[in-house]
Amino acid sequence: MTSSLAPSSLTPSSLTFLGLGDMGRALAHSALKADHSITVWNRSSGKDAELVAAGAQSAPTVADAVAAADLIVVCLLDDASFRQNLGPVAEQLRGKVVVNLTTSTPGEARELAKWAQEHGIRFVDGGIMAIPPMIGTDAAFILYSGDREAYDAHAERFAAFGEPVFAGTDPGAAALQDLALLTGMYGMFAGALQSLALVRSAQPEVSSFVPLLQRWIGAMSGALGQMAAQIDADDYKLGGVVSNLAMQAAGAGHFDDVVADQGLTTNLIAPLTELMKRRVADGHGEDDVASVVELLLTRKA
Ligand SMILES: NC(=O)c1ccc[n+]([C@@H]2O[C@H](COP(=O)([O-])OP(=O)(O)OC[C@H]3O[C@@H](n4cnc5c(N)ncnc54)[C@H](OP(=O)(O)O)[C@@H]3O)[C@@H](O)[C@H]2O)c1
Repeated sequence: MTSSLAPSSLTPSSLTFLGLGDMGRALAHSALKADHSITVWNRSSGKDAELVAAGAQSAPTVADAVAAADLIVVCLLDDASFRQNLGPVAEQLRGKVVVNLTTSTPGEARELAKWAQEHGIRFVDGGIMAIPPMIGTDAAFILYSGDREAYDAHAERFAAFGEPVFAGTDPGAAALQDLALLTGMYGMFAGALQSLALVRSAQPEVSSFVPLLQRWIGAMSGALGQMAAQIDADDYKLGGVVSNLAMQAAGAGHFDDVVADQGLTTNLIAPLTELMKRRVADGHGEDDVASVVELLLTRKA
């Protein structure tokens, strides 16, 4: 049974956690393991049971929870649930540090930072680069951005969740890099799924092929350093071009052909090959493939 304490019996804690979904519970457990005293709150009852058994104190309301600590870690579903629950206690948060690990867009994080500043709240936004079982292990890292002083004051406590990485004083920086990392991950998944679909269309299993795919993706990820240097220098021949864009774009037709030959209908990498061809048509065939970033950087008029 959960033992929700009456407000008067709550003792001061090092941290308060708002939101005990899968991620919030993992974060709170890792703080307990690191010997922090914690107070937890969740909208619906029951999710605090294991935490309370392990030493957490449970607050009956958000107001009680935020009163119990000066460092408030928020892990709710989305921006709307943050505003709905933190908005009414803004004045109680004055002078405290709020760390928002709820996934946000950069714009949402910047708006929350403005709201926090209006109420004298120290605000740090975060992006969790882990799934719940990774929390508290060396595999997890968490991006933070916003109030540098507040971050520095608590970075040691954040280390309980996973390696803390400060992304910048722009409050939207962690959210931007979080979404950029996920974009890279889904791009890799898109290519891998297309690859596995091709192989599966020709043979009854794909597991035997996966070691080759992993080896190839691993080897090719080594090209990212030079790609980034070329992008930073606006010079897509920097370091020497060994596989020019014209050659790669000419080969890109094969991807449409193999999909058609296998009797399949979808080519997930077609948007990329279209951009490669467009860049060649624009006269950049001698560039490296990183040259395509110029089209991705085109801004809305
Ligand atoms: N799980 C992951 O792999 C992962 C990885 C990286 C980042 N994240 C981010 O972490 C955050 C939490 O994810 P999760 O996996 O813990 O999700 P979850 O298991 O679905 O939990 C959602 C949490 O938000 C609460 N909530 C939702 N709407 C609410 C509202 N209007 N008012 C008060 N509480 C509300 C839920 O309360 P109830 O229990 O009452 O429903 C629950 O505590 C999300 O922003 C997610 O994007 C998750």
